[in-house]
Amino acid sequence: MKGLLLAGGTGSRLRPLTYTGAKQLIPVANRPILFYAVDAMVNAGIRDIGVIIGDTGDEVRQALSDGSAFGAQFTYITQSAPLGLAHAVKSARHFLKSDAFLMFLGDNLLRGGVADLVERFSDRDFAASILLTEVADPTQFGVAVLKEDRVVQLVEKPKNPPSSWALVGVYCFSSAIHEAIEGLQPSWRGEYEITDAIQQLIDWGLTVDSARVQGWWKDTGRPEDVLDANRLILEDLSGGILGEVDQESQITGRVLVESGAVVRRSVVRGPVVIAQGAHIEDSYIGPYTAIGPKVRVVATEIENSVLLAESQVENIDARIDQTLLGRGVRVCGGSRKPRALRLVLGDHSRLDI
Ligand code: G1P
Repeated sequence: MKGLLLAGGTGSRLRPLTYTGAKQLIPVANRPILFYAVDAMVNAGIRDIGVIIGDTGDEVRQALSDGSAFGAQFTYITQSAPLGLAHAVKSARHFLKSDAFLMFLGDNLLRGGVADLVERFSDRDFAASILLTEVADPTQFGVAVLKEDRVVQLVEKPKNPPSSWALVGVYCFSSAIHEAIEGLQPSWRGEYEITDAIQQLIDWGLTVDSARVQGWWKDTGRPEDVLDANRLILEDLSGGILGEVDQESQITGRVLVESGAVVRRSVVRGPVVIAQGAHIEDSYIGPYTAIGPKVRVVATEIENSVLLAESQVENIDARIDQTLLGRGVRVCGGSRKPRALRLVLGDHSRLDI
């Protein structure tokens, strides 16, 4: 079975972070989201993986390379425009040939992996098998109507959801999907929807099977989702002190201080990960925080947050909570007069005071 990993798209809901990079490369627990998807595929025995790339293709290629570091082999496929998931499959036709394949949206995170789904699909003669989870607001997703595990109807982002079973971004397909895609018309949002192609398989009388997410699932489309995902991944962190922590610092819980990181006169309460080259001084780093490479935190309290590489936070009076900082961001306080906020925020930035 082949793999198709989707790493294109615009990431509009994650601006401004996605102005300078691919949404799938935003790190959670200091590792790009996309890497967890590759791990899940490889753990399910899928190694021959096509990677769909778009405008951010160079950056994705650089991060993933040829796949050998993951025990996989990557073939990069350029999607000419972000015209939907079915269009991505069509773009990969020459790579997929007539093989069955697992499609994985690169901004989706799954705790339980995909091995069960793949095994179930490989054993039977299904046209497709989709992964589902119950959600509170199904209007944001593709939604399935089930008869036991068989899917009898699918609707993309319904106004009146027929069930609370949402499609998560992981699908197994036989080659029948290509014919279904051929007949598609663009949806109201101008995209060729994979949901519509699967509905076509059902209309043809073919069997579409489903499996339920084991563990948790997170679509990391919005900043609050990235923070949630970070928290969920850090739950499983194993700690270790590889960097330099001085005698005056206090470390409790599962804390990973990578080599080359420095912690001085600070309190760190895990789960926390502090990346290579980070510098923490006279600060408190609280649970569920990921400090990226070369980040500098001085005289500041921070928790439940994600700080990307080379950002800098110094002398902040209030505790920083639920915060997502991009690369090279500078947030500095102090006693300068007049006491006023001086801001330089890029387009689509958000500041809650
Ligand atoms: C896509 C699919 C949708 C699915 C979702 C999962 O939505 O179209 O059916 O439920 O991924 O993340 P999109 O992210 O394009 O809005």
